[in-house]
Amino acid sequence: MKTIAVLTSGGDAPGMNAAIRAVVRTGCENGVRVLGIRRGYHGLMNGDMFEMNLRSVSDIIHRGGTMLYSARSKEFCTEAGMQKAIDVCKENGIEGIVVIGGDGSFRGARDLSVRGVNCVGIPGTIDNDIGCCDYTIGYDTALNTIMDMVDRIRDTTESHDRCTVVEVMGRRAGYLALNAGIAIGATSILIPELEFSVDKDIIERMRRTQKTGKQHFIIVVAEGVSDQLKERGLNDVGALAKYIEHNLGVESRATVLGHVQRGGSPSVKDRVVASQMGNYAAHLLLNGVGNRVVAMQKEAIVDYDIVEALNMKKSIDLDLYKIAMEISI
Ligand code: F6P
Repeated sequence: MKTIAVLTSGGDAPGMNAAIRAVVRTGCENGVRVLGIRRGYHGLMNGDMFEMNLRSVSDIIHRGGTMLYSARSKEFCTEAGMQKAIDVCKENGIEGIVVIGGDGSFRGARDLSVRGVNCVGIPGTIDNDIGCCDYTIGYDTALNTIMDMVDRIRDTTESHDRCTVVEVMGRRAGYLALNAGIAIGATSILIPELEFSVDKDIIERMRRTQKTGKQHFIIVVAEGVSDQLKERGLNDVGALAKYIEHNLGVESRATVLGHVQRGGSPSVKDRVVASQMGNYAAHLLLNGVGNRVVAMQKEAIVDYDIVEALNMKKSIDLDLYKIAMEISI
């Protein structure tokens, strides 16, 4: 291959810059032209790209976000949008693209691959919700950010003998909530993968711990349980906090951590995994291999056919949930 490109798509994640750096440097060191496409597939359709060199990616390994910007494009999902993207690839001599993003981004990569533009996906999302991967870039940093934020919330929660309900991201998955919940010692954790009862899993647990002298509580709720809460007449975490206060007489507050979870300097793990995956993805393209997703399985970097990867499912570690329930009491 003479020319490859790299783009970031979907929600940004800490470590994406480290992955871009690895792709660009691996490409340049192996004698290919590397183009950086701005704003994901939207930028690809509109030819928004620039040539990168070894120095274009200096001083980014420690930065959150993505230097290539990101976007979610509806137009790219149409036949006309796809054709526009293919034409831009032909005009610019792009033979392969490294796509850093989540499942939605990989579907775009699959569609481009079947039309002759070799694509390799790299999993970048704080949600850790990609079936073929044990680990996605950004997850560790987001967990640490949640832990830092909730440690602060704990100070004020404890000072006032309160209960704080903390909503964390994760789209439809509970990985962030479960692991952060353990790390911060949450009394209860609600995740979309498990059925729950507010009375049994929150109110009764809090009551039991009150009897042992506990006076402040952190409850972690995954954003993915919002529909389940609504079915129980609780519109949001604010309503859940009021419900707790009403039933237990413990003053309660709700905090939605929101996009603070997506920002910040990537952790060591995210920088290292992103560097490994970026290097691996670029080598696949350099060897003429496309239509693949790079993944981490049991600490090893591997790759899968994109269609196979999109059909893979992973399940949450229910033993971890049992541990949390046994020790956060
Ligand atoms: O996929 C990453 C993520 O941060 C999810 O956890 C969250 O549900 C979603 O993106 C938020 O998307 P947006 O930034 O478009 O509001």
